[in-house]
Amino acid sequence: MDTGGLDPKRMPRHVACVMDGNGRWATRRGLPRTEGHRAGEEALLDAAKGAVELGLEWFTVYAFSTENWRRPHSEVRFLLGVIADDLLTRRRDELHAMGVRILFAGRRDWRVPKWVLRRMDEAVELTRRNTGTTLTVAFNYGGRAEIVDAVRSLVAEGVKPSDVNERALRRHLYVQGMPDPDLFIRTSGEYRISNFLLWEIAYSELVFMDVLWPDFRREHLRQAVLEYQQRERRFGRTGEQRDQDGLPA
Ligand code: IPE
Ligand code: IPE
Ligand code: MG
Repeated sequence: MDTGGLDPKRMPRHVACVMDGNGRWATRRGLPRTEGHRAGEEALLDAAKGAVELGLEWFTVYAFSTENWRRPHSEVRFLLGVIADDLLTRRRDELHAMGVRILFAGRRDWRVPKWVLRRMDEAVELTRRNTGTTLTVAFNYGGRAEIVDAVRSLVAEGVKPSDVNERALRRHLYVQGMPDPDLFIRTSGEYRISNFLLWEIAYSELVFMDVLWPDFRREHLRQAVLEYQQRERRFGRTGEQRDQDGLPA
């Protein structure tokens, strides 16, 4: 990939992406929506390669939300197949060879079939010692559910109310050690968060792109990072302070 034009000193550590627009991509071609999901899986593999080439530490993608169960059963079943069979079985060796560590974020509840959980666990186990980009697949993921689950787990631990603070809550989020996304991308021209990483995106830079997810390639990732590098992050301070102090970690 052409990484020209990017400042290596200002690379995001963590990029999160809402992969949206599969259905519209297919419909525009007169194809069933499921073909869009199939093509979206190709796009994800290319984007993951781009993340590796850019040397991103963390790349998190929204694959299936807690609300996506509301879709027709046949589409849900197809999506589970794309994620568990295509991505996690057919592609996992390729991802493994690229040094990608695969993780999942989301609820492991009764709605997720056992065979899907098994494939997820196998992919995590296979890649757990890899030190390249961490690809976190948000599956059966909801930002509100994540916060609720964190609170439940805090309560179960018996934490005193006065000990509940941001750091304590963060320890109970789905992925330990995951830094907040620096850059949040959504494709397909929709300007919504749709319940993705609500806690974590407090200070993320948001980039909305018109491209439909199946057309997304590593070049789009580079473009989004370029836009990110043109933003001024302040974290509540003034622009002048930022210049004096540099960016907070
Ligand atoms: C994103 O594409 C994939 C998932 C939500 C799983 P969509 O299926 O939402 O595509 P559109 O938004 O209907 O075009
Ligand atoms: C968000 O997209 C979820 C994923 C990309 C997995 P949706 O297509 O489900 O979001 P809405 O319904 O348009 O907000
Ligand atoms: Mg959508």
